[in-house]
Amino acid sequence: MIEFFLNGQHRRLAAAPDTSILELLRGPLAQHGTKEGCASGDCGACTVAIARPDHEGAMAYHTLNACITPAHQLQGAHLVTVEGLARGDALHPAQASMVACHGSQCGFCTPGIVMSLFALHEQQRALPRQELDDHRLEAALGGNLCRCTGYRPIRDAARSMGERTDTRPPWAEDPAFEQVVRDLSPTVAGEDQTGYLTPTTLAELIATMQRHPEARLVAGATDLWLEITQRLARFDAVIDLRQVEELRRIEEVADGWWVGAAVTYREWEPLLKTHYPAFAHLLTRLGSEQIRNRATVGGNIANASPIGDTPPVLLTLDAILRLAGPHGIREIPLESFFLDYKQTALAPGECIAAIFLPRPGDGHEQRVWKLSKRREDDISTLLGAFRWQLQDGTLRDVRVAYGGMAAIPLRVTAVEAALEGKAPDEESFGAARRALHQSLTPMSDARGSRDYRATAAANLLERWRLTLAHAGLEEPTQEVTLDAYAD
Ligand code: FES
Ligand code: FES
Repeated sequence: MIEFFLNGQHRRLAAAPDTSILELLRGPLAQHGTKEGCASGDCGACTVAIARPDHEGAMAYHTLNACITPAHQLQGAHLVTVEGLARGDALHPAQASMVACHGSQCGFCTPGIVMSLFALHEQQRALPRQELDDHRLEAALGGNLCRCTGYRPIRDAARSMGERTDTRPPWAEDPAFEQVVRDLSPTVAGEDQTGYLTPTTLAELIATMQRHPEARLVAGATDLWLEITQRLARFDAVIDLRQVEELRRIEEVADGWWVGAAVTYREWEPLLKTHYPAFAHLLTRLGSEQIRNRATVGGNIANASPIGDTPPVLLTLDAILRLAGPHGIREIPLESFFLDYKQTALAPGECIAAIFLPRPGDGHEQRVWKLSKRREDDISTLLGAFRWQLQDGTLRDVRVAYGGMAAIPLRVTAVEAALEGKAPDEESFGAARRALHQSLTPMSDARGSRDYRATAAANLLERWRLTLAHAGLEEPTQEVTLDAYAD
């Protein structure tokens, strides 16, 4: 049984382990305001907001894509849909602003956009001094596509909703409501009957995996759930990692941080912003806010996609993986993890428990450039990650890794060797480009031809050289789009 609140109302119902929130809403809950567009986390038509009381009891609302979120992850949460915003006839500011600014035409995307605006409005209320700048606005709306209205009126609605009379739903102004939600258990009851398993410790997780070797592991589900919505797979048993305490924490140690495999991108973004700004900026290109609120770095690694965004970056940082299994814990360099296309070093019954992110050394610098057809909400065609130190005019500790250039994310040691101990001049980078050409033979696919990828990867090396030649002139987070390398 899943027990949660929907728009302030208590709900308790059963669902198969592979049911999504959207199926629950549009099926047994008969809430049809939330739409299905792509069913793959791309369009945002199914956007809803969810909150759980934090350790201080406060409820922070974040958006997610209902089409690819397991219904069982509603356990112990408050789910808000577009039906829950108005107070009688009085519209919520997110709705009233959309009406006033003519932010809707056919209306299919509108419930999702209103929910993104609702979450933004709640977050702005909590931080009243935080100005709604273009960056925040685009981050909030970047996961919602509209085919007919055009984005200017929607942006106008976002900007003006803060000026409206603040009509909020009754539950939002009931101080007792947060405590009522807090009293719900965070884990699903009767899991043996439903096949949705929620271990709470690492030992329990390993034992559960042994008892249910066929079960699929899920955390954010932002990739796994596409097997259901796009390939029509069915899962009889699912093991949820999100309640496993050891997988949910970020532990600081002397030389870095162990980041639990089920920590979301939203949760580890503050750490990256402080210590690895170029990596933090990549998160804004990695997926929409709805996705970043849910997706995990452990999932991105375990997925072993050749175009996963974080593995090349983590390879240049000499990241280490902590793997847990029936025979205990072992640690391996990330570099040893990827064996072949979608093949990893995980033994049967093992999972990724945490990722070690070393503390940046003095003078270490980093650049990450992702090329994709759209700036936001798109998969990489190619990603280049570079890390180095400049000592007395020579490059040291050089690391170079690419995604999208081979069957696995790859460090290119021949390029590193061509640059290590050299001045960052045209001669050394010319040798690096030749080494790159000899080392990698990318494939052609719908996102880019082999020639395009080879040329673009070499161009990123040149971009790095120019960055070094004009040090201080460029921000580490500067955008690069496909257009920049189109010819
Ligand atoms: Fe498109 Fe869910 S229906 S993101
Ligand atoms: Fe028609 Fe947005 S109003 S898709």
